[in-house]
Amino acid sequence: MTILVTGGAGYIGSHTCVELLNAGYEVVVVDNYYNSVPAVLDRVEQITGKKLKSYDCDIRDREGLDKIFAENKPDAVIHFAGLKAVGESAKLPLLYYENNISGSVTLFEAMEAANCKKIVFSSSATVYGNNPIPYKEDMITGDVSSPYGRTKHFIEKILGDVYAADNSWSVSLLRYFNPIGAHESGLIGEDPNGIPNNLMPYISRVAIGKLEKLTVFGGDYETKDGTCIRDYIHVVDLAKAHLCAVKKILDTTGLEAYNIGNGKGYSVLDIVHAFEKVTGKPLNYVIGARREGDLPAFYADATKANKELGWTAKYDIDKMCEDTWNFQTKNPDGIK
Ligand code: NAD
Ligand code: UFG
Repeated sequence: MTILVTGGAGYIGSHTCVELLNAGYEVVVVDNYYNSVPAVLDRVEQITGKKLKSYDCDIRDREGLDKIFAENKPDAVIHFAGLKAVGESAKLPLLYYENNISGSVTLFEAMEAANCKKIVFSSSATVYGNNPIPYKEDMITGDVSSPYGRTKHFIEKILGDVYAADNSWSVSLLRYFNPIGAHESGLIGEDPNGIPNNLMPYISRVAIGKLEKLTVFGGDYETKDGTCIRDYIHVVDLAKAHLCAVKKILDTTGLEAYNIGNGKGYSVLDIVHAFEKVTGKPLNYVIGARREGDLPAFYADATKANKELGWTAKYDIDKMCEDTWNFQTKNPDGIK
């Protein structure tokens, strides 16, 4: 079986390619390297001892996609490619709508033309907006606070319409919670350009001395220690959820959404302290103002994925911090 992976050189995509190759799938990556480098794919091959095929191609390039589909005849697609910086999306909404939504529509058109109608889509917990916690898949979604989040909501709805019009599609919408951690080899991990927006890469850059201190965004939320609560999930657990979802879509038709989280909430300070345990030294941080748009707390009810995909998260926050630190210390200047 051949799986076409858009955005396969990115953070979650690269870890998923490792799991796919280890499980015996042929892997074809399509990435324009906007937020990644081709060397990541060499490392995926190094970890697995297996080869993959890759194309430097933008998902908005219909002709390019048609050729790739014709050459490789994939059985299914895992669609990671997209822009993901929440703050940037508020400043550059059209870039986000064009890349994420137009790109996805072009990809779905190419899939339909090639009669490849099986897809796993990278969605996000952000689609739940202000719903009560824990989030469940049957809640009404779409009350989102950023253009980025809206792209996820719209793409989910577009796939819903595609499936409603043609029931031979098989669609799995995976709503990720907060992926952190890295492959335990330390060869691949999260390697953002510039100053990180997300908590974990920021913490690890402070710990290694590249950034001076972490600002904890808000210490006055109504949570156990005043800082925000999130459902952190090890990226390898998340990658494995894609394997389960692929197996399911290959065997069935339909459209389902699944929460991919641990089902547990940790505060920002829980993560800071777990990281300090791993490095053995205190982390320089200050409590600052709240960040606009942040919700006080959210975490998953992951029962549906546990039951229907046979998937459960295995790793705890200590392992997430250990693997992040291992990747950071082995790649102090990122992957070149
Ligand atoms: P990433 O930026 O590391 O990976 C995305 C990859 O897609 C990159 O390699 C990038 O070069 C590629 N890409 C972007 N636009 C492209 C285009 N037009 N054509 C071809 N390739 C393109 O991000 P990630 O953290 O691995 O996230 C993967 C997916 O999961 C994204 O869709 C993201 O929105 C979603 N997601 C991520 C998180 C998270 O916290 N990391 C949470 C929820 C959902
Ligand atoms: N935080 C800080 N300081 C920082 C960075 C983050 O205190 O320098 C806090 C945030 O306020 C938040 C928590 O750490 O309370 C996590 O923040 P992230 O930016 O790492 O993650 P978010 O929960 O804001 O959002 C992430 C992704 C979104 C995705 C969402 C749910 O960035 O794309 O998880 O999956 F939609």
